[in-house]
Amino acid sequence: MTPVSEAVSVAKLTERIGRIKPSATMAVVAEADKLRQQGVDVVDLSVGEPHFATPQHIKDAAIAAINANFTKYTAAAGTAELRDAIIQRHAADFGSDYKREEAVVSVGGKHVLFNAIQVLIEHGDEVILPVPYWVSFKDIIQYAGGKCVFLETDEAQGFRITAEAVARLVTPRTKMILLNSPSNPAGAVMSPEDQAEVVKLAAERGIWVLSDECYVYLNYTGREFSVGSLNEYRERMIVVGSLSKTYAMTGWRMGYALAPAPVIAAMQKLQSQSTSNPTSIVQKAVVAALTGPQQCVAEMRAEYIRLRDHIVNGLRAIPGLKCTYPEGAFYVYPNISAYFGRGGINSPADFSRRLLHDGHVATVPGEGFGTNEHIRISYATAQKELDRGLERLRGLLASI
Ligand SMILES: Cc1ncc(COP(=O)(O)O)c(C=O)c1O
Repeated sequence: MTPVSEAVSVAKLTERIGRIKPSATMAVVAEADKLRQQGVDVVDLSVGEPHFATPQHIKDAAIAAINANFTKYTAAAGTAELRDAIIQRHAADFGSDYKREEAVVSVGGKHVLFNAIQVLIEHGDEVILPVPYWVSFKDIIQYAGGKCVFLETDEAQGFRITAEAVARLVTPRTKMILLNSPSNPAGAVMSPEDQAEVVKLAAERGIWVLSDECYVYLNYTGREFSVGSLNEYRERMIVVGSLSKTYAMTGWRMGYALAPAPVIAAMQKLQSQSTSNPTSIVQKAVVAALTGPQQCVAEMRAEYIRLRDHIVNGLRAIPGLKCTYPEGAFYVYPNISAYFGRGGINSPADFSRRLLHDGHVATVPGEGFGTNEHIRISYATAQKELDRGLERLRGLLASI
């Protein structure tokens, strides 16, 4: 008989699971955790989540839902109450005009992206993906059998994405363009004009636009914009939203899509055969988030703006570091290439590793986001943590 361990090692896993890698961000978290367990005081600037607690009125709604026994299955796509709350919030904030059957909720924005890509991307379909990209886009596309076509952007132009640059990459196999404004990892924000031009170009060529708007409320330009407001181009558009960043609800796991009804129906069908509905209690909490006072969002945004300015000024004061000015989300993406060739550092991975092991500061190397000269720093943390991180970074770089 084959021993169990051998049986597992020869177990034939699918070809598709071999196409993807674990998230680069998670790998850093694991390494930082290992150091912490050894008693090391790590300054963690790697995690992409708000440092704020979920606002009290949202927590109260979840507790009330439990006490009211709202603890059973719901419709797989989410309750009518919640889907209506989503379309109404979006209409109020962005002037869109979605119907209930054009909305679905899933277990986080990542799950929404996964479902949308699964129902739209066939083997060999090309998806235009601007660089730098959030780590999971590439793997989710590849898991569906799609081919990523990378749109290189210019750091000196703030990683700007234009319709002309997109047009140059379009082939007969192009199925989708992925947008993410404000972006993870660079905090880059596309102007409403640039977004509208890309959406128009896509609509003219019958290409889908998948717009990941998980950071749409963390736009610091004063021009919050959702492509979902471009009603005339909605036929080929999927807007993805998330409660995670806007309301400091990363652990609650709730995201949504706004898209044409047939796409939503397909996503709902897929979901009905996998997770079924997202947690009923969380659905009630999210209704409270979307229909309640929005002051908490404005307050958190104001604090991120303050922290953004603090970290950018601190980084720019370090000799050799170049840093674009992020206009949204809560990341900075400094260019650290001036340090290549010093102290055995020749890549972002080397830099991040050295910074973690010798400086005890956790950051994410840029390779996972598709660039070779950057690290990602999350500034969603207390200012004193940023100061400790900056001081350690300064000290380490001065010593190499
Ligand atoms: C660009 C982007 N999209 C989607 C997500 C997914 O967020 P969630 O699944 O928590 O809604 C993240 C999380 O970091 C993100 O950065």
